[in-house]
Amino acid sequence: MNQLALLGGAPVLASPLPPYRSMGEAERRAVVDVVDSGCLSGFYGSPGDEFFGGPKVRAFEASWRAAFGVDHAITVNSATSGLVAAVGAVGVGPGDEVVVPATSMSATAVACLFYGGIPVFADIEDETFCASAAAVERALTPRTRAIIVTNLFGHPAELAALRELADRRGIYLIEDSAQAPLAFEGGRRAGTVGHIGIYSLNYHKHIHTGEGGVCVTASADLAKRIELIRNHAENSAQWRGIDDLVNMVGLNLRMTELEAAIGIEQLARIDEHVTARVRIAERLSEVVAGLEGLRAPKVREGCKHNYYCWTMRIDPRRLGVTRNVFAKALAAEGFPNFVGYVQPLHRLAMFRRRIAIGRDGFPFNLTNRSYADGLTPVAERLHAEDLIIFEPCAWAVDSQTLDRLCEAIRKVYSGLPALRMARIEA
Ligand SMILES: Cc1ncc(COP(=O)(O)O)c(C=O)c1O
Repeated sequence: MNQLALLGGAPVLASPLPPYRSMGEAERRAVVDVVDSGCLSGFYGSPGDEFFGGPKVRAFEASWRAAFGVDHAITVNSATSGLVAAVGAVGVGPGDEVVVPATSMSATAVACLFYGGIPVFADIEDETFCASAAAVERALTPRTRAIIVTNLFGHPAELAALRELADRRGIYLIEDSAQAPLAFEGGRRAGTVGHIGIYSLNYHKHIHTGEGGVCVTASADLAKRIELIRNHAENSAQWRGIDDLVNMVGLNLRMTELEAAIGIEQLARIDEHVTARVRIAERLSEVVAGLEGLRAPKVREGCKHNYYCWTMRIDPRRLGVTRNVFAKALAAEGFPNFVGYVQPLHRLAMFRRRIAIGRDGFPFNLTNRSYADGLTPVAERLHAEDLIIFEPCAWAVDSQTLDRLCEAIRKVYSGLPALRMARIEA
């Protein structure tokens, strides 16, 4: 009965978890209304009222400003676009260094390359997986123009300390808050502490519009620059009163009316969507807290985690099995998971081979920075040895299913002696 599924027993969850769907009737109606209106995008890439987009885009931005308590919210067609626009807006140019976390989605580190910026990797903190203020400070040089910090998995980085550091050094702090729309540090919302914050609305996030993103800032000048980069800056910079033309080279990063209409409905229920995911994660953490050799995600004092990812750390020496074997045993019980998150970003081939823009190694030919292994030991160890991830946003988990997921953890834990004996390769 208690034989592990990996060793031939019956799994705790007999069928795969269904995907979590945050879309409902309100979103369906909103899309139909836009289609019926015939106006699927209200943008024009030239001076005039249409430079700012259509009615749904404007309404969505107004709702985001109100919900997030920010002065400016600028929609874009992805968080990746938002990162590129943010890096451009703060004036990163060829040879400028941008400190980024060793562990994040690749876009965090790659955005600055489009302006010739050089990513400099800061190691992450062992408990919260975000780059610490101390690691970022160690990575700063006179060439640093900006810091991009990721509120990874939905936990805030040391945001107040990082903002203080950025201000002290006269550089910019950009928050990649793609995964953290409802995380807080000391009462301040992740994404709103830095000079610019960026949220993702891609299909995998707590709330989504298929693809999409939002940049927020308290600065009217940065907001204007992001809006310009979003929409063919070269045509409208003068009209918008911009004298300093640095990076006023525009793209088309515009959100359509369809996405904005969905976004309005999703945002209206963001608390509900996020709270449901947080409840799942907290219950899993309670189970893990009682099991020696396993570690639930840590929430730094005064912070609120929104659990884009729920993480479990395992101590392979104490358990006598590797992280990969433990993860495989959980998966066999029907508990979906993956290990290690992404590889530390300096291991990407583009950094290893120093080829990004064009054939001559630009912008790496402007620096002698090394991207060798060993520079970010915590990120490297977590990826290789002890991190297991469950994505609460990916799966529909009712209370019965949640009981089963908890049971799966306990079952694999109790089955450790059998797992050790079986000497499974993973
Ligand atoms: C931390 C982080 N940054 C940036 C992105 C890019 O977001 P998008 O897919 O909206 O471009 C993601 C997407 O998963 C992410 O997780």
